[in-house]
Amino acid sequence: MASSLHSAFAWTKSPLIVSAPMLRIARPQLAVSVSRAGGLGFLAAGFDVTDLEMDLERAAGLVWHSKYPPITPQTGPRPLLPVGVGFLNWGANLTRSLATIGKYTPAAVWLFAAAEPASENMETWAKEVRSVTNGRTKIWVQVGSVAEALEMAQRVRPDTLVVQGSDAGGHGLCQSASVITLVPEIKDVLSDNGFGDIPLIAAGGIADGRGLAAAICLGAAGAAMGTRFLACHEATISKGYQNEVLRVSDGGVSTVRTTVYDRVRGINKWPQQYDGRGVMNKSFHDAREGMSDEDNRKLYQEEILKGDEGWGPEGRMTTYAGTGIGLVKDIIPAGDIVEGVSRQAKAILECNPDGLSK
Ligand SMILES: Cc1cc2nc3c(=O)[nH]c(=O)nc-3n(C[C@H](O)[C@H](O)[C@H](O)COP(=O)(O)O)c2cc1C
Repeated sequence: MASSLHSAFAWTKSPLIVSAPMLRIARPQLAVSVSRAGGLGFLAAGFDVTDLEMDLERAAGLVWHSKYPPITPQTGPRPLLPVGVGFLNWGANLTRSLATIGKYTPAAVWLFAAAEPASENMETWAKEVRSVTNGRTKIWVQVGSVAEALEMAQRVRPDTLVVQGSDAGGHGLCQSASVITLVPEIKDVLSDNGFGDIPLIAAGGIADGRGLAAAICLGAAGAAMGTRFLACHEATISKGYQNEVLRVSDGGVSTVRTTVYDRVRGINKWPQQYDGRGVMNKSFHDAREGMSDEDNRKLYQEEILKGDEGWGPEGRMTTYAGTGIGLVKDIIPAGDIVEGVSRQAKAILECNPDGLSK
C-alpha cells in the first residue's frame, strides 16, 4: 500500500507525512514546503472555493518558478501539481471547482463532511474529478467511523482513506474513537470486504515521530497532521493563535469537542453529526454556564477588535487544535517538521536508538 502511494506521489518518502488542509491556514507556502520535504501538502479550499484558483496558481509558481528545483517535472500541458486540495463538501461547489482542478491537476483532492446523502455527493465528486483529470488526481476521503469507511469504500472507491480519530483538531464526527482502535478496525473491515488494498492515513493526535510510528504499527501507510503544522513558519495564522498553540498543554483537558465556536462565529451549515475540537476559552465557558448564542456572538465580535490579545485563557478567539497540542513546543519551518517526524519514526520502526531524539 505504501508503494501504491509512492507510485502516485513519486516525490514522497515512506512513511508518508501529510499536512492536512486547514481552512484559511493551509495555503500554498505551507503545502508546497511539505511536498518539497518529501511529504504531501494539502491546500484548503474549504466550503467557499473562491481562493482555489489563486492558491493553485501560486502553488504552481512556487513549484516551478522559484529558486528551488521543481518537485515534479513540468512536462506537457498539464503537469501534475505536487500538492493536494481539501474540500468541505457540505458547502463546496463542484461545478465551480472542476474547471480549476482540470486546469492545475493537483496530485489529490481530499473530500470531507458532505451533507446527506454523503456517499452520493462524494461519489459524484470522485467521478467528475477523475473524469476531468483522467484519473491523475487521486481521490482521498476523510472518514471518522468504521461504517463510514466501508460505505465510502463501496460507493466512492477512494484511492486513499484518511482515518480521522477523536483526538483530531478542528472538525470531525461528534462521536468517534481514537485512531488506536479506529485504524485497525477499519483495516480489518475493509480487508474482510475486499477493499484491503485501499491505503489508510491516520489523523488525529499525531504530532511527532512516535505518533507516526504508532500509526504505522496500527496498519496505516502514513499520517496526516494538522495541529503540529499550526506552529510552522509557513502557516497563515495570527501570532495570538500560534502563541496559544505553544502555551497550551495537556490536550485532553484543555481542549474540547463543541459546536460553540461555530455558533459564535456564525458558521451554521455543518452537518449535525460534526463538531470541532478547540482549546477551551471564554466563549466555551460562558455557553456552558447558559449564555445565549446571541450574547456570546456579540462578545466574540468585540474580541476580534483586540487582535492577537483576543486569544488565551481569558480570550474568545477560537483556537481549533487537537489533543496533541501539548506536544507542540516550537515554531519551525514546515520542511523541518516533515524531516524531524520522519527521522524519529524511522528510528523507532528500525529500532535505532541513535535516531530517537527529534
Ligand atoms: C485549525 C484546523 C483546521 C482544520 N480545517 C480542516 C479543513 O478545512 N478541512 C478538513 O478536511 N479538515 C480540517 N481539519 C482537520 C484535519 O483534516 C485533520 O483531521 C486534523 O488536523 C488531524 O488531527 P490533528 O490536528 O491532531 O493533527 C482542521 C484541523 C485544524 C486543527
